[in-house]
Amino acid sequence: MRRIYNAQKALAYISDLKSASKTIGFIPTMGGLHQGHYSLIEQSKNANDVTVSSIFVNPTQFNNTEDLDKYPRTIEADCKGLEEAGCDIVFLPTIDEIYPGGAAQFEVSLDLQGLDAKMEGPHRPGHFAGVVQVVKRLLDIVPATHLYMGQKDYQQFTIIRHMIRELAIKTKLVVCTIIRENDGLAMSSRNRRLTKEHRDDASILFRVLSQAKEWINHKSISEIETKALEYLNIPGFKPAYFEIVNGHTLETIDHINGVSEVVACTAVWAGDVRLIDNMRLIASDNIH
Ligand code: PAJ
Repeated sequence: MRRIYNAQKALAYISDLKSASKTIGFIPTMGGLHQGHYSLIEQSKNANDVTVSSIFVNPTQFNNTEDLDKYPRTIEADCKGLEEAGCDIVFLPTIDEIYPGGAAQFEVSLDLQGLDAKMEGPHRPGHFAGVVQVVKRLLDIVPATHLYMGQKDYQQFTIIRHMIRELAIKTKLVVCTIIRENDGLAMSSRNRRLTKEHRDDASILFRVLSQAKEWINHKSISEIETKALEYLNIPGFKPAYFEIVNGHTLETIDHINGVSEVVACTAVWAGDVRLIDNMRLIASDNIH
């Protein structure tokens, strides 16, 4: 696996591959890699000539410096994992490579049409603007044919899908299913911060989401949301929200009639760790 540290070198290398008509799958990450990330590598490998990943802990998407400082940095283990997963190239930029002259110069002018105002938005002001900024910048450096992102961060990929459309970026977004632990807990680098007790109870998110999926055709949306919040409210856990939304607009819905993509999204505090998860309750086919 080739390691590239410099933005210009990465762009030159990827441009050469594109001139040779190679398809390129790109998986941006912030490191702390686990099976969820490696599943994106695998999907890219199955569909592209070349697979590129990046590890960059993007400061502009953290609204809290403590979270930024606490973010796991395990570059060597991550590179080993990427290599074993068959990744061809990893881009490992410094902050200066991504934002030379400061992040302010790389602001993206884009109306997110309220997609950033819901669910995770109020809890993390500026977070999604930071994600848009870094993914745009990364795609300028790695102009891949395909971009792989996880359904785990439903709001994030919805906003990136919007960005790709609005800015007419020539990269196809591929959304990948959520990889879970055996008990159903969605894999996340945050899980390692859970206490033993909270870890044992954390599968409650998956169980309640699965229950909502069973209920969707015979209970009202508001009844499901109320019951779900009740079930999630176990000792040590504090639900932040449980919302059933239109998967395209992220607007809450009153009924499922005529909505082709219905998703339940939840965030729950387990002690001081915020867990997020979601499940598609009604879905036509693959997300695109
Ligand atoms: P990070 O949290 O490292 O996640 C990188 C990618 O892995 C995201 O697309 C995320 O949705 C996906 N992912 C995480 N857990 C997953 C799971 N259990 N199953 C499937 N996919 C999973 O998300 C970010 O980084 C950053 O915001 C980034 C997009 C890189 C911009 O900085």
